[in-house]
Amino acid sequence: MGQLIEVEASPMGTVALFSTDRSLTGQDGVEISPDALDGADPPHELARRLFDADQLIDHVHVLSNTVSVRRRESWDDEAIGRASEIIAYLFIHYAPESGVAEADQFEALRVANYNATLSHIRAHNEDLWVMRVTPDEPIDPFLPGQYTTLALGYWEPRADDAHDNLKPDQDQKMARRSYSVSSSMIDEAGELLPPHTPDVEFYIVKVKPGQEEIPALTPRLFLKGEGDRLYMGRKFTGHYTLEGVEPDDNIVFLSTGTGEAPQNAMIAELLRREHKGRILDVVCVRYWSDLAYTEQHAVLVDRYPSYRYVTITTREPENERKKVYIQDLIASGRIEEELGAPLDPAQTHVFLCGNPAMIGLPKWTDEGPVFPETLGVCQQLSEKGFTIDHRKDRGNVHYEEYWTER
Ligand SMILES: Cc1cc2nc3c(=O)[nH]c(=O)nc-3n(C[C@H](O)[C@H](O)[C@H](O)COP(=O)(O)OP(=O)(O)OC[C@H]3O[C@@H](n4cnc5c(N)ncnc54)[C@H](O)[C@@H]3O)c2cc1C
Ligand SMILES: NC(=O)c1ccc[n+]([C@@H]2O[C@H](COP(=O)([O-])OP(=O)(O)OC[C@H]3O[C@@H](n4cnc5c(N)ncnc54)[C@H](OP(=O)(O)O)[C@@H]3O)[C@@H](O)[C@H]2O)c1
Repeated sequence: MGQLIEVEASPMGTVALFSTDRSLTGQDGVEISPDALDGADPPHELARRLFDADQLIDHVHVLSNTVSVRRRESWDDEAIGRASEIIAYLFIHYAPESGVAEADQFEALRVANYNATLSHIRAHNEDLWVMRVTPDEPIDPFLPGQYTTLALGYWEPRADDAHDNLKPDQDQKMARRSYSVSSSMIDEAGELLPPHTPDVEFYIVKVKPGQEEIPALTPRLFLKGEGDRLYMGRKFTGHYTLEGVEPDDNIVFLSTGTGEAPQNAMIAELLRREHKGRILDVVCVRYWSDLAYTEQHAVLVDRYPSYRYVTITTREPENERKKVYIQDLIASGRIEEELGAPLDPAQTHVFLCGNPAMIGLPKWTDEGPVFPETLGVCQQLSEKGFTIDHRKDRGNVHYEEYWTER
């Protein structure tokens, strides 16, 4: 059911340490001897196989990603090879016995599939979290603006009453979704944070079930707490980056909701680089309480004269008479006013992230781009002479759509 475990063995006399590429237990280790084999979880299953394969093994200790195995005689190459193989194949052949408690099965699935810990949660409100994930193994550096995958098993409970309509066996699979990496930008002293920290920050909203769409991951994620385990992809990818931006260019970030996440990572990078052009960041949310990074932006605005942060809401009482979207700010000239410069395609890059209706990505046809009926920012900027960054055509309008319109 799971994947092969990578194992590195270090024998020292009668004890051998086997390092694995994932954690096999929680923070409390598990000690197992041949006469105490009563568990069905992965450490007990592993110990059972090791005892069966080598009668000289008399003690197994599993803690996180280290398995210590003691033998009555010194380890030789053959014994090391045999034990390494048993550990490597633990999850390939592992099927919890029928009759084993469901909770044990789910714990086994977590151990087999999760590779990271939810190390910090800043709950801005109960449905909007800034959270950090610490991978078991360090990840390679990646670019500000890029994204990876987070996942939890369908076996995890949901925070709402919705039903997933799972296919047979799907309850043992994982619900995977993409997440842009966000950034806290500054430390407690107000200094810019370094680009790479051992943990990775995400900015996530809990999606409510719709009439047709049942969200899979966020209702499960928001039941987790600090110290809980989850899966984080080790590949960080995406073209929504600062590639192509020159030091003197003006940069406009436009986002809705949690679309602010990759913008934060890129803003921190531009400020670290001492970017010479102007930087404007505009975020549109339903309510003022949907903005989790305002304090940090206020510090940056104070400190960096070239940086401006503008927020608008759409569902507060003051919005009742007239709802203003980001598109309206472009049409009215407010974006240029806040930027302090014209939206000149020769000297400006625009980054769009979040709700696809705000972005308004066209369909590319042989006759050229066909824009959606509802006016989006892509059409407005196209009419001003901007080029949309699409596949191999590198442009000055960059986008990250969080979902696609049906
Ligand atoms: C490249 C990329 C990066 C992303 N980064 C983020 C991020 O940093 N933070 C984040 O919260 N989400 C992000 N998303 C969306 C994320 O992948 C999930 O879709 C979202 O968290 C909901 O997951 P779900 O399984 O609960 O519901 P899903 O089944 O994935 O979505 C159900 C519906 O919820 C709505 N929805 C999805 N995501 C959002 C959202 N962020 N805000 C408002 N409505 C939404 C849409 O109508 C969608 O059709 C990103 C998506 C992509 C493709
Ligand atoms: N505290 C909470 O309970 C809470 C808070 C936020 C979100 N949520 C949940 O999170 C999900 C939605 O998240 P979200 O509000 O972050 O994202 P969202 O629905 O994409 O809304 C973000 C912003 O984009 C605006 N928008 C919508 N259509 C647009 C368009 N055509 N052009 C330009 N802007 C447009 C929205 O305005 P509109 O007002 O017109 O939609 C809103 O201001 C839902 O499942 C919701 O239930 C819950």
